[in-house]
Amino acid sequence: VLVRNRFSLISAGTERMVVEAGGHGLLTTARRRPDLVRRTLDMAVKQGVGQTIETVRARLDTPVALGYSCAGDVLEVGSEAREFESGQLVACAGTQYANHAEFIAVPRNLCVAVPEGVSALAASFVTVGAIAVHGVRVADVRLGESVAVIGLGLVGQLTVQVLKAAGCRVFGIDLDAGRVAQALQLGADAAVPRNEPGLLEAAAAFSLARGLDAVIVTADTSSSDPLELAGQLARDRAVVSAVGAIGMQVPRSTYYAKELQLRLSRSYGPGRYDREYEEQGIDYPIAYVRWTERRNMEAFLHLASSGVIQPERLVTHRFPVDDAEAAYAILSGKVKEPYLAMVLEYPRQVAPERLVSVDQGPMAAPPTHPMGPTAAVGVGLVGAGNFARSVLIPALRGDARSRLIGVVTGTGLNAQRAARRFGFHYAGSNHHDLLARPDVNAVVVATRHHLHAAIAADALRSGKHVFLEKPMAMRVEELTALLDAWRTAGGILFVGYNRRFAPLAAHLRDCFAQRQRPLSLHYRVNVGPLPANSWIRDPVEGGGAFLSEACHFVDLLHWLVGHPPERVYAKRLGSDRAAVVDEGVAQLEFPDGSVGSITYCTDGDPSVPKERLEVIGDGAVAILDDFVRLTLARRGRTKRLGSRVGRQDKGHRAEVRAFLDAVSGADALKAYTRDAALSTLATLRALDSMRRREPVDLRPEEVGL
Ligand SMILES: NC(=O)c1ccc[n+]([C@@H]2O[C@H](COP(=O)([O-])OP(=O)(O)OC[C@H]3O[C@@H](n4cnc5c(N)ncnc54)[C@H](OP(=O)(O)O)[C@@H]3O)[C@@H](O)[C@H]2O)c1
Repeated sequence: VLVRNRFSLISAGTERMVVEAGGHGLLTTARRRPDLVRRTLDMAVKQGVGQTIETVRARLDTPVALGYSCAGDVLEVGSEAREFESGQLVACAGTQYANHAEFIAVPRNLCVAVPEGVSALAASFVTVGAIAVHGVRVADVRLGESVAVIGLGLVGQLTVQVLKAAGCRVFGIDLDAGRVAQALQLGADAAVPRNEPGLLEAAAAFSLARGLDAVIVTADTSSSDPLELAGQLARDRAVVSAVGAIGMQVPRSTYYAKELQLRLSRSYGPGRYDREYEEQGIDYPIAYVRWTERRNMEAFLHLASSGVIQPERLVTHRFPVDDAEAAYAILSGKVKEPYLAMVLEYPRQVAPERLVSVDQGPMAAPPTHPMGPTAAVGVGLVGAGNFARSVLIPALRGDARSRLIGVVTGTGLNAQRAARRFGFHYAGSNHHDLLARPDVNAVVVATRHHLHAAIAADALRSGKHVFLEKPMAMRVEELTALLDAWRTAGGILFVGYNRRFAPLAAHLRDCFAQRQRPLSLHYRVNVGPLPANSWIRDPVEGGGAFLSEACHFVDLLHWLVGHPPERVYAKRLGSDRAAVVDEGVAQLEFPDGSVGSITYCTDGDPSVPKERLEVIGDGAVAILDDFVRLTLARRGRTKRLGSRVGRQDKGHRAEVRAFLDAVSGADALKAYTRDAALSTLATLRALDSMRRREPVDLRPEEVGL
């Protein structure tokens, strides 16, 4: 859902934490994360200091958008969010989505319609409100119960109001007397400063000497004092719901003696941190999960529409978005001023500017005609994630022919950041805007896999040359459509199967150049475990580790043999029931009688180098170790090539050079495109073979080759 924001709420606790973490220097980060330091040192040994610095910079330099609670008007809706319509007022949640920005795009499960009678200002409290609602649900309170709320900041004040709406009696506690007074004004039945000597007696009197039925901790402190106090206030067998980020030294004797239940309240409810729920819009059935994060957001807005909750009364500061820094000065303590809820307000009439110009000074000798031979290559980059920032952009910048014209990513923020850092002149979040620019004649596609084929086809149809990251496509139909676009448009379609451009791979190939007999090739890959939440394992965006990487190895074997495989037979490793294939063993049969096998495992020990290729045939053996060393043995003589210090070169710079050569007219590359397409087809057919449990023949004609 594309939304033009009217208001966004600054959530003091969370945002202060993010802003402070962002200010930590490299040294502080290194001190806090020794595991990352170790990984960085390993990488420096393997890939060289220069490449490591680029990779670390790319990681550390990722901007974080602030804000996660806002409200505004719907501009456009995607095909699966039909419950919304343009012009409707909605409230939105979610880190990285509901940002402090004029325009935001949110997935449907993080967006709710604002009911009648709720202002956009009140609706912008939706996320923080849902956090309060969820904290109350976790405490499992009932009508008439007495509940303490420790910490009367924004979430605490809203919790007081939600508890009142739920028919509870509320006892508020805060270090700050002003906040205590405010809670009393906003409906708390009683409220006492934390340091008041008679606090425990007041609480006892409030609960008729029974102890509080529940305690909700909404404080934000590294101290465990709130948890200790909660234990003292609670009655026997009460619930303590911890909403705020507090110290967790639980005083066992108190909690044991009263058999208290300590429950942690996670953000705004069920669905949080679940990509399928939040990003892919898959809801939980209401019969089993009555209160999801989205339904909590709705519940909060309904309470606001009936007037039992009045978020507006919590607003202490309201800034136009252009003055947002003033709000953060208060938040960080640079300006000393009491505050509770600070909101940013957005201009209503601003028109979306889709491709933003980033001031980089004059452009050096812009490229000329889009398709003809040209010395200067105008590059448009689609997707500036980890790989593009650490590998592709440095390689492009290292070649005098490329002019970095524009960059487009999923979010405008990342695009602008990449543009500023690397010297692109334009930044945006829609690749069509980039394709419309006449000064872009080469488009580099480095998004996640599901967008590869479609964006590359769009670029070709717009008259651009294309460098497409691997894999070329996730399905055979996508590959066919892409090749159709390539044949019709006539531009260059280069694919990032970089290993065939590695210097040691060229030596290996030369070693068998005169061969008369078939080769036997064995490629062993020891990847190490992939994080469970890696996008590569997502069936929609990534398609699994095997698809993501095995295409590289299929392509290298294909290139070394000099023919595409004609038949593949593959078996997956690991669970047959997992949605994607991460591990597997594939056998490739080539028309000259050569046979290749690829063993791709994510379950090994990462201390063993990742890749080893052994090629045997024609009286020789060649062993390529992780693109660091090549050992050649023939007629009893052994030769070793490669870097003594263990420097790895997988051919990334050389492939970018080859692409720029092609675009500047040196090479039409038609044979390479055909090769890359057949390597892709063979990888997709290996996955089919795993499903069908039988060998699969490759038929190039099915993709029009
Ligand atoms: N050849 C190799 O050796 C090698 C090695 C590693 C990776 N790769 C490949 O490189 C590609 C990127 O991987 P990665 O690890 O860099 O992924 P990543 O960090 O997730 O980056 C993906 C990029 O795509 C952008 N994006 C998302 N949706 C978009 C859209 N609709 N239009 C334009 N851009 C969009 C993202 O934008 P935001 O930043 O705004 O979200 C992000 O910049 C993958 O194809 C991967 O297989 C190749």
